[in-house]
Amino acid sequence: MEMALSSATQSAIILPAFFLPILTFVFYTRFLRSKTSGPLPPPTQITNLFVYPIKSCHGISVPSARLLPTGLDLDRQWMWVTYPDYKFLTIRNLSKMTLIRPSYDATTDTLSITAPAPNTMDEKLYFFIPAHPTSEWLAANTEIVPATVWSTTTPAHCYSTALTGPFNKFFGKEVRLVYKPPVSDSPRALVGNGSRKMLGRDASTCFADLMPLLVGSEKSITELNKRLKMAEDLNIDVRRFRPNILVQGHEPWSEDRWKSIRLTPSAGASGWKFGFDCLKLDVVARCARCHVPNVDPETAEEHKRQPWDTLMKYRRVDPGITFKPCFGMLCVPRGGGGKVDVGMKLEVTQVTDNHRYVVGM
Ligand SMILES: *[C@@H]1O[C@H](CO)[C@@H](O)[C@H](O)[C@H]1NC(C)=O
Ligand SMILES: *[C@@H]1O[C@H](CO)[C@@H](O)[C@H](O)[C@H]1NC(C)=O
Repeated sequence: MEMALSSATQSAIILPAFFLPILTFVFYTRFLRSKTSGPLPPPTQITNLFVYPIKSCHGISVPSARLLPTGLDLDRQWMWVTYPDYKFLTIRNLSKMTLIRPSYDATTDTLSITAPAPNTMDEKLYFFIPAHPTSEWLAANTEIVPATVWSTTTPAHCYSTALTGPFNKFFGKEVRLVYKPPVSDSPRALVGNGSRKMLGRDASTCFADLMPLLVGSEKSITELNKRLKMAEDLNIDVRRFRPNILVQGHEPWSEDRWKSIRLTPSAGASGWKFGFDCLKLDVVARCARCHVPNVDPETAEEHKRQPWDTLMKYRRVDPGITFKPCFGMLCVPRGGGGKVDVGMKLEVTQVTDNHRYVVGM
């Protein structure tokens, strides 16, 4: 049976059909754009992943890594401390700490740690430990001590000197190695821009200075290297900045405005459930730098001026910490974790003009 539509019914259909696109347009331009603070940069790709198992020691480049709420697995879960007060030791205290090299053997799930022996050319100090120790192993080989990183003191597992003793010779004093499991009853809560007050949720990390992850851009290191080449004929490796995730990048320093990002498999990657598996990160602050990047991690030699002097000329870009230059973005994973691979796509989902570094506590 055919039925003519009343003119009221007709306009009930035609009017929304006419206005809906306009309303959608207004919603997008007014609401979403103001929320994202301008156009988003195009997606880029992860070109390298680095973990630094022991704070301030040599890093390892890996093809893939597990992302945990505390950062990449095996990243800064260990740290050297003074004895008997368990205060953190870093490249700032002793630049040759970069000569301590952890390496990871996946078949035995072991970390081996080596360092040059003092006063010899080819001897090495070494020991090895489980990379994912069981609580039984920890109970038998470590004791709980209060370890201090900057302004926070957190319980950590301290290894027996039966294992780490030879490294006292390398440091020239009594030191201890401590471990913080990524899942812990007493997590080391983030401070500053990562605090509950700022982030809106509880988040923690092991022994990184501040935040679980540092993301760096190749476009930016290349731009910095152009300046270093002109200034002092220098070219530095991005590893001096100790990023975890390195991306190709779009424009140099466009990461300064990232607010949230997501990692998705590159086209054609297998083993991903279609459409659902993406890893979201909050970009909580720019990374304000100290003199550590002046140290060449391969040789432990410290350059008197660079790249510090050059960075100070043009990278004091954060209104919260104007006396320090910035390189890289500090991030906190949102929600559960997953596997991160070199080649994955990084998409910026939100940008901001309001980044402001908040000094911890
Ligand atoms: C190591 O360096 C840090 C950072 O500069 C400093 O706070 C700490 O007191 C130093 N520790 C020692 C034992 O020198
Ligand atoms: C860090 O905290 C400050 C102060 O609350 C805030 O202005 C800034 O937007 C925060 N940074 C980010 C990226 O949320």
